[in-house]
Amino acid sequence: MTEQQQNPSHAPSRVSRRYVLGAAGAAGLIAGGAGGAFGAAQLKEEPTALASVGSSSVPFYGNRQGGITTPAQARGHLVAFDLTAGAGRKGAAALLKRWSRAAEEMTAGRVPSGDNQIALDAGPSSLTVTFGFGRSFFAKTALAKQLPDALAPLPDFPSDELVAAHSNGDLWVQIGADDALVAFHALRVIQKEAGDGAARLRWQMNGFNRTPGATAEPRTARNLMGQVDGTDNPKQTDATFNERVFVPSSGSPEWMAGGSYAVVRRIRMLLDAWDDLSLERQEKVIGRRKSDGAPLSAGKGGTETTPVDLDKRDADGLPAIAADAHIRVAKPESNSGAAMLRRTFSYHDGFRDDGAPDAGLLFVAWQADPLKGFVPVQRKLDGGDGLSRFLRHESSGLFAVPGGAGKGEYVGQRLLES
Ligand code: HEM
Repeated sequence: MTEQQQNPSHAPSRVSRRYVLGAAGAAGLIAGGAGGAFGAAQLKEEPTALASVGSSSVPFYGNRQGGITTPAQARGHLVAFDLTAGAGRKGAAALLKRWSRAAEEMTAGRVPSGDNQIALDAGPSSLTVTFGFGRSFFAKTALAKQLPDALAPLPDFPSDELVAAHSNGDLWVQIGADDALVAFHALRVIQKEAGDGAARLRWQMNGFNRTPGATAEPRTARNLMGQVDGTDNPKQTDATFNERVFVPSSGSPEWMAGGSYAVVRRIRMLLDAWDDLSLERQEKVIGRRKSDGAPLSAGKGGTETTPVDLDKRDADGLPAIAADAHIRVAKPESNSGAAMLRRTFSYHDGFRDDGAPDAGLLFVAWQADPLKGFVPVQRKLDGGDGLSRFLRHESSGLFAVPGGAGKGEYVGQRLLES
């Protein structure tokens, strides 16, 4: 249900109470107007409630961390830290304790003590703060024995143009919220809590998505190429969803039970070249209609959810979904069943020297095992995907994201106290 459906008084066609009070504050109009007395009484008796966007919260405690199956929020910050030389396992544990405490307070909409009050007036706004460990974390904390096999370095993909300083890292934090101030506040708190000598910022990326309530009904978001993106993600209702995305409780190592592996890639889009393509070419590159995301195998009909038919031929006898169409090359059927949960943010970091936007996708793929998710699919896409001509992979990271913390625990405790 959208915000407007839940809360019809916020429908744009009506002058909402919030709007009237705002106008009164600015121009002092209510008292003199025909409805003045009524407006003033309302002001006293019915303080305006938080809008649904602000009041939504995602529990911090639980078997799994938030920010994986949580619907992608309007704002995101991805940030990596490296432990300082002297921190060791003790310093890392103390840091995760501080981070977890702060995240628990902020996700519940409480203000941590001594806070700078950036988010003071807002509700939790679906804030999630998700913590992960990079491969380099384990040697620095004398935990090499606990290093998961699944954290083996990602292979080199021939088209990669990775910047080492913006890749990997000992610790990774993903912050998401439906309000920009709430998200920035969380980022600032996380950064400050790291700043006692335990860890140093390595890289940071800022992303965004469509704001909940911006469309008349909930819809799959679009990316900066304009495509509906996220349609054929594994669904939580799929029988195989949990085994694809999460490490089982019987999984190895034990501290990863309920956890997941996040592949993080900053993928720049060559938007000028993309925008020069005709609509027909753009649709062929993906294999889906741009207007509504319907697969090209549905001809002129179908909808976003019409099943894809890879065998379908068009009137000329050619495959309706081209051999190098992104969805054909990426489909689990083309990759021995390999699948991942894509949960992305768009980014825009200004314009490059040549005037092109420095913009694209902060691609975050979640899976129980990267070798059965991202790796085989990216191997295929790198060589044979029509879309890859319009993309540049510039940063990369792989992180082990442990299960969530129980009440009184901190995230990663089972690893750090193993
Ligand atoms: C900027 C880069 C990318 C863009 C713009 C993009 C865009 C899209 C779009 C528009 C779709 C169709 C709608 C959907 O099912 O979500 C799609 C599907 C998909 N993409 Fe991407 N993608 C990108 C990168 C990647 C990468 C790096 C991977 C994995 C290595 C990937 C894996 C997939 C998968 C698995 C599907 C679903 C295929 C299916 O089952 O139909 N994509 N992508």
